[in-house]
Amino acid sequence: MSLFTEGVSKKEAVFIDLGAGFGEFSIFFAKNFPDAKVFAVEASKGRQEIIRNRLCGISNLSIVSSLEEIPKSEFAIVFANEFFDAQVVRVFRKNEEFCEELYYDSLLNKFVFTKVTASELPASVIKHLKDIPDNTIFEFETDIGELFRVLRRFNKVWLLIIDYGFQIGEIERFREGTLVGFKDNLFINNPLKRIVDGDILDVTHQVNFTFLNEEARQNGFKFFFIKSLGSFIVEYLEDHLQSFSIEERNFLLKIALPHFLGDSFKVALISNRSKKK
Ligand SMILES: C[S@@+](CC[C@H](N)C(=O)[O-])C[C@H]1O[C@@H](n2cnc3c(N)ncnc32)[C@H](O)[C@@H]1O
Repeated sequence: MSLFTEGVSKKEAVFIDLGAGFGEFSIFFAKNFPDAKVFAVEASKGRQEIIRNRLCGISNLSIVSSLEEIPKSEFAIVFANEFFDAQVVRVFRKNEEFCEELYYDSLLNKFVFTKVTASELPASVIKHLKDIPDNTIFEFETDIGELFRVLRRFNKVWLLIIDYGFQIGEIERFREGTLVGFKDNLFINNPLKRIVDGDILDVTHQVNFTFLNEEARQNGFKFFFIKSLGSFIVEYLEDHLQSFSIEERNFLLKIALPHFLGDSFKVALISNRSKKK
């Protein structure tokens, strides 16, 4: 915690759970840090209602729909667990000579790839196009740049991201793109076909942390680290072994296993502060 709060009083700080879902983290945090001002940012009205019903007298937690609703303050600690994989994406395909983007064609009633010019590509994509093999489908989260611009309303920000994703060097593993769907807890491959057929389902994708890094950098933020969840847990346990019971350690080590969540999930720490000398 010292990394985050050093030199900052709790009065100046806000704690933000970005994409709070059912509010597990916000509620845990508000209960354990009763002096802190905690904000659960959740777009879904239904989920906001669920969080509200779970508050049971917790008074230092506010539920808002967007970051803009949080009053400006000096310092913000932002936690985003599986937030970025839920963001809107543009889907591209890189070919030998040009890029195509996926559009819905209402006459054909299907999604089709259509050629785009360089000026229609985001700068972060252009910068890394050379790293993407030909005939690869990839996603770009359209709203990340704006998110970092809004975060600049806080002078100092620490943003901790936990999400499943990859860096561009690993893109060879995802040549067909990473969009998948879920419905009633069942995994659905080729979700766009199902949507065209009139089905309603959750669509998610693997976060491209290289694009995310680029969007952060363009807005004055930088990555302090990015590592697999497995490495993060093991390193944290090494330093804080005594803080956990044997059951808790075993639980964390299970999560850290590569074939469970340890490899596919990444942890990234991003800030607009410069590193302390
Ligand atoms: C995959 S869930 C993760 C929920 C929670 N963080 C967790 O780990 O259990 C993503 C959540 O982010 C919310 N969300 C997505 N985009 C959002 C946005 N732009 N602003 C606020 N909430 C958003 C969704 O409604 C959803 O509840």
